[in-house]
Amino acid sequence: MDDAVILSRTEGRVGVITLNRPKQLNALNDALMDALGIALLAFDVDPAIGAIVITGNDKAFAAGADIAVMADWTYMDVFQSDFITRNWETIRRVRKPVIAAVAGFAMGGGCELALSCDIIVAAESAQFALPEIKLAVLPGAGGTQRLPRAIGKAKAMDMCLSARTLSAEEADRYGLVSRVVASDQLTTETMALAQRIAGYSLPALMAIKESVNRAWESSLTEGILFERRELHARFASADAHEGMHAFMEKRKPSFSHR
Ligand code: CAA
Repeated sequence: MDDAVILSRTEGRVGVITLNRPKQLNALNDALMDALGIALLAFDVDPAIGAIVITGNDKAFAAGADIAVMADWTYMDVFQSDFITRNWETIRRVRKPVIAAVAGFAMGGGCELALSCDIIVAAESAQFALPEIKLAVLPGAGGTQRLPRAIGKAKAMDMCLSARTLSAEEADRYGLVSRVVASDQLTTETMALAQRIAGYSLPALMAIKESVNRAWESSLTEGILFERRELHARFASADAHEGMHAFMEKRKPSFSHR
């Protein structure tokens, strides 16, 4: 499995996917994005998994779409193969929480992949950029849409138009990442976070993820209505009753994920 483009393993209720093209700084080619999508969907349907972590290595989370592969593509190639939409967007179908653990380069499509995750934990070594303008293309895996929603138009325009690189500290200050940790603690801290999340009621986690994502995609009125219906639906779950009774009885809840 040494030449596998991703490595997949489980730790307790957490599924961990490691991007594994270190010589190319985890440049994202079709084989990798196909394999990532398959691994994500496998964890998503596995009832023993409550949260998913995507990570790279110390040098790179991912340095973007594979430029060597793209260099000679034509418009008809990318249109007919439905480049990006066909496999990169599989991550949008995942209903369980997905955490990106980012060290080193998160450039172009690598930064966009991280932005597609629900939580980004950044090592102090992490660097974020959307440098596609240097290639005379544009961030095409959701970057021009998710980045302004995450950090606002002014900062997003600066990053997209100038190819400016953000340090982990800047990314944290701007709201691009969820938290920054010491580089040698990235795996430990991310796994602790993922295990903590995975220990909660899975249907409640899925409802929260769906509801927060509505904040990006609908008006406040529609979003609030969606959230309220999701809250009401929790009262049809065994876990909500267990969670509240456990609180009243001053004991740890035992969730059945139902
Ligand atoms: N695609 C293909 N190969 C890549 C790559 C990429 N995105 N990024 C790095 N590599 C390869 C390099 O070609 C090099 O290969 P060789 O050893 O065979 O020469 C190897 O990885 C190591 O890279 P560098 O020698 O460049 O490493 P560095 O430490 O000097 O620089 C870097 C690191 C600043 C990230 C630099 O590699 C870089 O600028 N990479 C390209 C970043 C980029 O432009 N990303 C956007 C891609 S387009 C995109 O993603 C479109 C989209 O929206 C989906």
